[in-house]
This record gives sequence, C-alpha cells and structure tokens, in this order.
Amino acid sequence: MKTQYYAATSLDGFIATEDDSLDWLFPLGEVGQSSYPEFIAEVGALAMGATTYEWMMRNADKVIAEVGSAWPYRQPTWIFTSRKLPAIEGADLRFASGDVRSVYADMQAAAGGKNIWVVGGGDLAGQFYDAGLLDELILQVGSVTLGKGRPLFPRRVLSPVLSLTSMRQMGTSMAELRYDVHKAALK
Ligand SMILES: NC(=O)c1ccc[n+]([C@@H]2O[C@H](COP(=O)([O-])OP(=O)(O)OC[C@H]3O[C@@H](n4cnc5c(N)ncnc54)[C@H](OP(=O)(O)O)[C@@H]3O)[C@@H](O)[C@H]2O)c1
Repeated sequence: MKTQYYAATSLDGFIATEDDSLDWLFPLGEVGQSSYPEFIAEVGALAMGATTYEWMMRNADKVIAEVGSAWPYRQPTWIFTSRKLPAIEGADLRFASGDVRSVYADMQAAAGGKNIWVVGGGDLAGQFYDAGLLDELILQVGSVTLGKGRPLFPRRVLSPVLSLTSMRQMGTSMAELRYDVHKAALK
C-alpha cells in the first residue's frame, strides 16, 4: 500500500495555468494509452484540494463527456477545504481540513490495502510529503512549457534526492517518470 502523487505536469513544472486551465494537457495524450488504467485499478482512496475539486465541478460537462458521469471515481475521496463546498451527486466524499495526518488513518482504512492517490494540487502533495506520508511521485511530463501556473510540487527536496525508479516514453509529447521518496530523511 503506497501513498502516491500521480499528476501531469508541463516541462517547466506546472500542473495547471494560473487560471486553472488544463486545456494545454488534453491534446498531449490519450488516457487509455497511459498508465492510468492500471494505476487507478490499484487506488483505494483519493485526496484532493479545494481548487482541484472546484475544477471538477466547473468542468462537469467535460467529465460527463469523457466518463459518462459528473464524478469519475468510485473510491472514497477526501476533499481538503476550509470552506463548505457543495457535494457532487454520486461521489463518495469526505470533507477535511487542517493537518493531513488527522485523517490519514481513516484514509488507509477506507483504502482497504490499496493505494492512496493524492490527486493534487502540488501543495497538498507537499503536505503529505512534509508529514512523511508520501511514498511515490508518478509524473507525466508533457512536452510543453507554461511559463507560470500552479506548481507541481512547491517543496525543496535536496538530500537525499528523490530516487528515479522508472521512465517511460509515451510518443513524443509525454514521458512518465516515477520517483520513490526517501521517507527516513524526513524523520
Ligand atoms: N495536471 C494535473 O495532473 C493536475 C492534478 C491535480 C490538479 N490539477 C489542477 O491544478 C490546480 C490545483 O490548484 P492548487 O494547487 O492551487 O490547489 P488545490 O490543492 O487543488 O487546492 C488548494 C486549496 O485547497 C484547500 N486546502 C489545501 N490543503 C488544505 C488543508 N490542509 N486544510 C484545509 N484546506 C486545504 C485550500 O482551499 P480553501 O481553504 O479555500 O478551501 C487551498 O487553497 C487546479 O486547477 C487543478 O484542476 C492538475
């Protein structure tokens, strides 16, 4: 069971533009040709920040066109927010705020031995990293730059470095990089 940050990033380290657009990402690859189907099959619970959740709400029509419903996940999902946000119909949601460690045991129990996917954004993944709870980063690096936007992982990770465990080329517009986190260094 691992806690994984699985995200797509521009070459210069942004997961969305500064106005939360992902339009740059969709032309880069087909979900079916990526590692996503195998990845999501092993996920038992998700965590996402409020801005990511609000993107899902705002783009419900795109999500419905892609997967047939406004919420693509069957797994329980923790939404981190300091506000009261509306629920999306059909989604198994738990709203949380504050220290990610306070709900981690509940997430593990709900995941039932499967992995926990930290969907994003970057700072939420950083909060799991800071707490020593992040095991792996799985990054689809697109062959585009954005110049500015929402950062992939706004943390300084220097020593020991992340450990590169695999690289996979997906055509000429994407590469998938997997990194293990050295958790002992965080203690
Ligand atoms: N390319 C990709 O693979 C990918 C992956 C994920 C997301 N995205 C996109 O990237 C953007 C993500 O934006 P982001 O990084 O700015 O944000 P985010 O993590 O989605 O949301 C940040 C917000 O979540 C809330 N939050 C985070 N941690 C919290 C905590 N511990 N307790 C309470 N509330 C907490 C706060 O909102 P409030 O306090 O205001 O509620 C915070 O402003 C979105 O556009 C999303 O669609 C892209």
